[in-house]
Amino acid sequence: MNPIPLIIDCDPGVDDAVALLLALASPELDVQAITTVAGNVGGDLTARNACWMAQIAGRHDVPVYPGATRPMRRELVDAAYVHGPSGLGDLPVGVPTVRLQDAHAIDWIEQALRAAEPGELTFALLGPMTNLAHVLQAHPDLTGKIDRIVAMGGAGPGKGNITGNAEYNIWADPDAAEVVLDSGAPVLLIGLDATHEVRSTAARTARIAAIPGERARACTTLLEFANRLDADQHRRDGAPLHDPCVIAALLRPDLVTAVPAGITVGTVDGADLGVTHLDLTLSDSLTGWVTHLDADGLFDLLADRLAP
Ligand code: RIB
Ligand code: CA
Repeated sequence: MNPIPLIIDCDPGVDDAVALLLALASPELDVQAITTVAGNVGGDLTARNACWMAQIAGRHDVPVYPGATRPMRRELVDAAYVHGPSGLGDLPVGVPTVRLQDAHAIDWIEQALRAAEPGELTFALLGPMTNLAHVLQAHPDLTGKIDRIVAMGGAGPGKGNITGNAEYNIWADPDAAEVVLDSGAPVLLIGLDATHEVRSTAARTARIAAIPGERARACTTLLEFANRLDADQHRRDGAPLHDPCVIAALLRPDLVTAVPAGITVGTVDGADLGVTHLDLTLSDSLTGWVTHLDADGLFDLLADRLAP
């Protein structure tokens, strides 16, 4: 099967970083570029962090384009309390040798879509959907160049992580999420209902820790940071590994259980802000909602791909 032409848009971010390690070690994915967005931490840091992870992954060939430094309409509210001030937990971070591109991510995404064949490009969205939303809002004609979008975001009732019912990526930029979900491009949304079952338990973390090499060492450091924070806050065995679920869904669609669903987003201030609402009666919807992702399958992928 031909490698999937993929653009990864992310806000690294501890779990984004693990997702990048997995994606950049997977030959099934032809990663055309990494584009970054402000989210977990500010835009300068997410851009630096993406370069740093591409370097650890040994992928100097993958360009990194810095993107939006704030949501489409709202002020940025970051999640540094989860990811640490650097955005990469306690992973040592230096000055990357992977150089940040001069072009803005939004401009680069637009030109990539213009140059693409119909239905050619796949997007993995791991943070607030600001960059792609700007492009599709300004140039809706480019939607036809997208094969599909697989995104981490959303939560079922009572399963939010930023408010009771809202998930961070959608809540941070609900207007962008609305644009992308309404764009007419096929979107598979992987929400907290699924990702909260994908935990880096002590046993799974130990499995990664036993793998030699810089990539596995970095991944272990990231997982252990997330696990300590999660244990302190929730007394659980292992932090949920949100963003790698998107990459796993691309690599192994058989790991995913999903239902067609119309998905709308609360975009006004108040209790409904950033809340994803599902209409499960739309069996022919272009948007799908992931109800389950096989955690063991994801960690099998991670262990396999991080091995030297
Ligand atoms: O709610 C989890 C999502 O928000 C993940 O993408 C995490 O990296 C943060 O961006
Ligand atoms: Ca993220």
